[in-house]
Amino acid sequence: MRRIRTSTKLKRMFVMGIILGAAAGILFTILIAYQVLSSDRAEFASANAELTKENESLKEQAMKTQAVENSAELLASDSDDWALALVNEDHPLDTSYAPAEMTEIDTERSVDSRIAEDLQNMMSDGAEQGLSMYVASAYRSYEQQRSVFSSTMQDWIYQGYSPLDAYDETKLSVAVPGTSEHATGLAVDIISSEYEALDDRQGDTEEQKWLMEHCWEYGFILRYPEDKGDVTGIIYEPWHYRYVGKDAAKEITEQGITLEEYLQQ
Ligand code: DAL
Ligand code: ZN
Repeated sequence: MRRIRTSTKLKRMFVMGIILGAAAGILFTILIAYQVLSSDRAEFASANAELTKENESLKEQAMKTQAVENSAELLASDSDDWALALVNEDHPLDTSYAPAEMTEIDTERSVDSRIAEDLQNMMSDGAEQGLSMYVASAYRSYEQQRSVFSSTMQDWIYQGYSPLDAYDETKLSVAVPGTSEHATGLAVDIISSEYEALDDRQGDTEEQKWLMEHCWEYGFILRYPEDKGDVTGIIYEPWHYRYVGKDAAKEITEQGITLEEYLQQ
């Protein structure tokens, strides 16, 4: 009787041992599987994040290439980046380009309607600060740019420059027709009513100081800053503001770079 009980006990212990061993084995396998799965999942998430980042950067690069290569197409498109079109001596704008919709600032000046509200807000916020300034030049057609260029060149010739030297001197401050961003309708010359000359001292007026500090909030940049003539091809113009959109304007201003440099990044 006693022997039977002992052997039953042993059997039970043996069976329990097997069950517990199996359970521990299963638990161990589950734990290992879970660990493998979570590390797989973490690896997948990190690979996914890397791919998303790469994709974003490729998209940005493609957008910037388009901004540099197809100014007229980009300007006329529905793309979010229409305001980034690059127009300079190396990137002429199709001479037949004109903004699809223009908004009059006054009887003689208009801008691309897409920037009218931001421009209006910038001018009225400036006025609320007690500043007095006005838009002296906005959209200029190819013909208008030709006339500005030739009259400036004429001035240099009157001052004794040879036609060739007069041409070289003129293009430092007036874009060669076909390469002016005034033809995009996104550029404006704003000058102080207190000091109307277009020279370096324009930059010392309260109006320009305020504009230089705040224009990015409205999507504008000072397009031809001091000491960037080697990049833009144009001398310091503390009156020429260019609309590039609020995100780009913020980045360009924070980094202290030009549109050319921004598009090359
Ligand atoms: N003054 C600027 C460079 C223009 O003529 O477009
Ligand atoms: Zn200008």
